[in-house]
This record gives sequence, C-alpha cells and structure tokens, in this order.
Amino acid sequence: MTKSAAEFDRWYADRIESPLADELVRRMLGLPPGLQSTSLLSGAGLDEVVTALGLRAGQVLLDLACGRGGYGLEIARRSGCRLVGLDFSAVAIEHAQRQAQARGLADRADFRVGELTRTGLSTASVDAVLIVDSIQFAEPKLDALRECRRALLPGGRIVVTCWEARDATDERLSPKLRQVDLRRQLSRAGFVNVEVTDKPAWRLAEQALWEKALTIDAGGDLAMQSMQEEANRVLAAFDGLRRVLATASGPPAAEMTVRSSA
Ligand SMILES: C[S@@+](CC[C@H](N)C(=O)[O-])C[C@H]1O[C@@H](n2cnc3c(N)ncnc32)[C@H](O)[C@@H]1O
Repeated sequence: MTKSAAEFDRWYADRIESPLADELVRRMLGLPPGLQSTSLLSGAGLDEVVTALGLRAGQVLLDLACGRGGYGLEIARRSGCRLVGLDFSAVAIEHAQRQAQARGLADRADFRVGELTRTGLSTASVDAVLIVDSIQFAEPKLDALRECRRALLPGGRIVVTCWEARDATDERLSPKLRQVDLRRQLSRAGFVNVEVTDKPAWRLAEQALWEKALTIDAGGDLAMQSMQEEANRVLAAFDGLRRVLATASGPPAAEMTVRSSA
C-alpha cells in the first residue's frame, strides 16, 4: 500500500528530529554539505542529473515530490535556475521553505503542497521537471507523467530516478515498484527521446548505505529505526531491482498543437 500524506508527515517529523540519520545518508551517499535527502540519489548521481537537466540561469525547474527540497535547492544553487518544489507532505514543505531561507535561495524557490498527479501549475510553465525516487508513489503513474508533460514548456526536459523490477511478477517487491516501467510510461505520456539507463554505481552506493545503517545502534531514534526496517526490507530483494535514470523531452511546439487538437 502507498503511504498517505499523514504517514509521510510523521516520517518527516521523526527525520527532522534525527541528525544521525541525515548525517549517515549524507556521508554514505557523498552528498554536498547541507543537502537534506530522503532518497537514495548519491552526490555523483546528482551530478549526472544536473547534466541531464541542462538548466540555465533564470529557467524554471519543477522538483516534484521534492521532500525537504534538498536536490532542487542544490540544483538551483549550481545553475541559477528558479525552483518550484511540490510535495504532499506539509511537514516536508515547511522544512523546505526554511532550508531555502537558510541557504539564501528563498527569492528563487517556491515550495508548495501538491500532488504528483495534480500540480496546480499552469500549462507550459516550467522548463524542466525532476522526480527523485518518488514516481512509484503516483496513483496512477501515467497520470503523474502526463501532468508533467502538461506543465512542461514545449521541448522541456524530464529526469526521473527510480528502480525497476527485473521481473514484474517478483512478489518480494511491492506492487508500486513492480508497476514502474519508465520507457513505456514516458512514451505513453507523450514524451519523446526517452532513454532509460541502468546505474550500477548508484546501486552500490545505495547498498552500502543500507548495510551501514544496520550496523548502527538506533537506540530510541525513530528515524534510524525506520531506516533499519527499510534496509532489511530492501536488502532482502535487492537482486530483484535495477537502479535507473530516465530522461526524455516534451514534444516540440508544433507536435503539441497537433496532439491537443487530435
Ligand atoms: C523517497 S521520498 C523522496 C523525496 C525527495 N525527492 C528526495 O529525493 O529527497 C518520496 C517523497 O514523495 C512524496 N510523495 C509520495 N506520494 C506523493 C503524492 N501522491 N503526491 C506528492 N508527493 C508524494 C513524499 O511525501 C516524499 O517526500
């Protein structure tokens, strides 16, 4: 079952109380100082994502299911882009707003509560969309990708990091992960130039993080306890997953006109 916004709110409240969990993630994934992640995208992976997005100063990035805003804020800092961050957890969004202030990026960052399938953004209003380790939560995934295409300017980029099952019938994996098929879903959502690449080095960084988390005395730290439960669950079926980076473009303007009038 997918987690509700209230469950994510509690998860974030625990995480915000736990410098131990954040520090472990930052160290094991090689993240830049100050980047608060609740996913498995490493610092080296982020460099690849920045290149794939190809953002210029002043352009607009939508970081969808942004959590506490860590990756989007770092990309805004590096590229000079403007940032819209959206997540259905109000606790995460409030924290992201504080992070934007703390990092001196509040004038370029707009964090809002919103849904993967209903962003509330105007049509053709953003230059690029990033979804880090979150598309599996969308119900249904195709609606979220169609929503991204709607919000993107013609020819804009989408970059998605996620996992895909090696075998969609593998019952060790959650149904939400087994349903991820980014090549097919991005194409069906109307994107072009779809590429889905395996990322074995990201996978190794993730595995090292889960294994390290299990060696730590969590004591009464609720975020560490939750991380250890997740580590046990993920490692038990780790061989069943591929770690992937998907990139694609929205159709060019002429094609969008044809599609929307069809
Ligand atoms: C694994 S976390 C990743 C967060 C962030 N992208 C990062 O990399 O740090 C998944 C995020 O998806 C958000 N989420 C899950 N379902 C969602 C939905 N239906 N609409 C919007 N956000 C959702 C959660 O609140 C959570 O912040």
